[in-house]
Amino acid sequence: MIFPKDFVNKIVCGDCIDVMRKMPDGSVDLVVTSPPYNLKNSTGNGMKNGNGGKWSNAALMNGYKNYDDCMPHAEYVAWQRKCLTEMMRLIPDDGAIFYNHKWRVQGGLLQDRSDIVEGFPVRQIIIWQRKGGINFNPGYFLPTYEVIYLICKPKFTLAPKSNSYGDVWEFTQEMNNPHPAPFPTALIDRIISSTNSQIILDPFMGSGTTAVSAKKLGRDFVGIEMSPDYVEMANERISSQGRNPRIKHLSDQRELELFNVG
Ligand SMILES: C[S@@+](CC[C@H](N)C(=O)[O-])C[C@H]1O[C@@H](n2cnc3c(N)ncnc32)[C@H](O)[C@@H]1O
Repeated sequence: MIFPKDFVNKIVCGDCIDVMRKMPDGSVDLVVTSPPYNLKNSTGNGMKNGNGGKWSNAALMNGYKNYDDCMPHAEYVAWQRKCLTEMMRLIPDDGAIFYNHKWRVQGGLLQDRSDIVEGFPVRQIIIWQRKGGINFNPGYFLPTYEVIYLICKPKFTLAPKSNSYGDVWEFTQEMNNPHPAPFPTALIDRIISSTNSQIILDPFMGSGTTAVSAKKLGRDFVGIEMSPDYVEMANERISSQGRNPRIKHLSDQRELELFNVG
């Protein structure tokens, strides 16, 4: 496979580490991604016992196509660290990674994912607050937040005006997407438009949200996804998304108008 011809504005179906290893150093500007959370490897009574527990996105109970999301914890951590190592190789000195994950309590202890990100240059943690949902579990308050680790190479800076956003972002979770764990498009619009990046990689592309947002904002994408069904779903979404001129910041009125036209 040749870069950029076989990668840019395409979704490659395969294992993300295998595919990333075929890409040259510094070949993308930004990574935006959400890995599988290893939800089926759980000590809790939610995902394991088949009722979806307190999780409002209980669609995940049925799992991903082609991936069981259940590794021994140490193996999962080692795998995610390998993925992050490849992502770091692929961004240049002014690049960054927005790595979405979820904190949870396991066996009475906070699993805050520090074992995954330790040693990587985490600059900031953004809280993504989802809207509420239905709580089927009387023993827990409804979980409504996830985290986004902003992992940066030294020269990364935000696009002009974006530093006025706070570090708690409220975005409703996606409702009309058959993928079990899609990003809300508005969340990814916020991330991409807060950067000057042109080529954006998502190595866990799922239903294609990062690509749809990149195209809408006049950027380019590289997608990787192991499930052929999700690749097909993503390609359908991408082809129905128009490509706008490059949009830098969503709060600018003129740019918002352009954005809404697309
Ligand atoms: C949390 S979902 C990503 C959803 C995506 N953000 C969206 O908006 O639809 C994680 C995705 O990673 C995929 N996946 C799991 N293991 C993978 C691997 N080794 N390489 C590439 N993709 C993988 C799953 O099939 C799933 O679609």
